[in-house]
Amino acid sequence: MDGEKIVVSRRMPLSGIDFLKERGFMLNVWDNDKPAERSWLLDAVSDAKGLFCSLNEKIDAKLLDAAPKLKVIAQLAVGYDNIDLNEATKRGIVVTHTPYVLSGAVADLTWSLILSIARRIPEADRYVRNDDWKIGFMPIMLPGRNVYGKVLGILGMGRIGSEVAKRSLGFDMRVIYHNRNLMENPPASAEYVDFETLLVESDFLVILVPLAKETEALIGFKELSKMKKTAYLINVSRGNIVDQDALYKALKEGIIAGAGLDVLRNEPIKRDEPLLTLPNVVFTPHIGSDTFETRGNMSLMCAKAIYSVIREGKVPDYPINKDGIK
Ligand code: GLV
Repeated sequence: MDGEKIVVSRRMPLSGIDFLKERGFMLNVWDNDKPAERSWLLDAVSDAKGLFCSLNEKIDAKLLDAAPKLKVIAQLAVGYDNIDLNEATKRGIVVTHTPYVLSGAVADLTWSLILSIARRIPEADRYVRNDDWKIGFMPIMLPGRNVYGKVLGILGMGRIGSEVAKRSLGFDMRVIYHNRNLMENPPASAEYVDFETLLVESDFLVILVPLAKETEALIGFKELSKMKKTAYLINVSRGNIVDQDALYKALKEGIIAGAGLDVLRNEPIKRDEPLLTLPNVVFTPHIGSDTFETRGNMSLMCAKAIYSVIREGKVPDYPINKDGIK
């Protein structure tokens, strides 16, 4: 059984790569810091049984047609809006992702953004480095806003949202959330509210819903206008859930106080992106789960899923299209 080909569409943490190599899989790795070129990918998958990818690759009917032997797609990410699940299912290909292992790291990053934007940490750091700090202590220097005691709003209270909510306990916050479904035992005694109430009452509104047709541009100018002038928007899910032009306008006009963004409409950001001109935005480059430990675990999880499907003929731990696969 040795020698099955696996296409690895970007540099992945070694834990998963070593796992596959030690078990005799033949890896065809896009060994480059740029995303895999489409033409390379189309060619590489022609005799592959597995595809180990991430969210920059568009996995559509054309790619799947080019991969007649493909049995499994393991995506190093929890989101999978880049994958046409129907097309994969039609062809009997199992698609897996990496839930659970990354929830804690993404929640930590969410809190980093909340604290950074509310207490103006990047601005304060620049202030010190740029030699603007001329007087030791000033009663008014870089005033931010309290985080403790405020209202934390979570749009999409799932695995990650629950971790975000749990971390609020030390901050004495009221936690509210909006989901399609009510949770039975939400953490931090979070209260279910309707979408409108979430917008109106949150001091920190954290976007965690996945990107889908129903969530695309869910937060536009109308929604932003309902928020408090002192509120902050934190997006750690997908950029396209927020109408970015509307967000720029709302931030520029003081409709809301600021934003912490790990994700954007176009990634990487374009140099002429208007948001870059605003001081009241903190950016991170889509690094929610990017810790040594978490990405290592995600890589291993993908490798094990590939192994389960190809060598053991088993459904892996976290299939996305389980119901459709025979
Ligand atoms: C990252 O955005 C992920 O979906 O894991």
